[in-house]
Amino acid sequence: MVVSLRFVPALIGLCLLTGCALTPKQSLFEALGGHDGIAALVDTAVEHSVTDPRFGELFANTDQDRLRTQLADQICELSGGPCVYQGLSMAEAHSGMQITPAEFNWFVEHTRLAMTERGYPVGTQNRLLALLAPMRSEVLGDPDQVFEAEPEPEDPLGME
Ligand code: HEM
Repeated sequence: MVVSLRFVPALIGLCLLTGCALTPKQSLFEALGGHDGIAALVDTAVEHSVTDPRFGELFANTDQDRLRTQLADQICELSGGPCVYQGLSMAEAHSGMQITPAEFNWFVEHTRLAMTERGYPVGTQNRLLALLAPMRSEVLGDPDQVFEAEPEPEDPLGME
């Protein structure tokens, strides 16, 4: 197909206005600052989670170093980085914890707040949260269990 030269300035203008589709999109791994950025983000998110009294004793017996390393590797791999997650499956890692939907939301909220604190733009935050969302059903305990009435925060993943 031959494009008349008179359209070239218009095409360049359109490209600049739309962020130019020819420019490869930065991978999420890069947007998160690579492995170091992800490790720092995980540190902040885990720190917020393990010190949140709403989780009670949930993290009391957790090997936090292992959790940080495994979570960072998992996010590294999921976001397109050069890591291979070798930890437990999400069902195995969280089995027997009976994690509630509210607890899942708090964990996600800590992750989102950690990203805000570390200065990630909302678009990058949403890209990572979209990768975590599909794990919800594997992380949650028995969906038929009876929960204590708990004021639910706004669903940050728009799952409900
Ligand atoms: C999408 C959300 C989540 C992801 C991606 C995730 C990821 C992980 C990973 C990678 C591990 C380590 C697995 C291993 O040791 O091999 C882990 C362990 C753990 N997670 Fe999660 N998790 C999520 C949600 C949650 C939530 C909502 C809670 C609690 C409210 C939680 C509590 C824990 C605890 C306590 C452990 C440590 C288990 C142990 O001590 O062996 N996780 N999680």
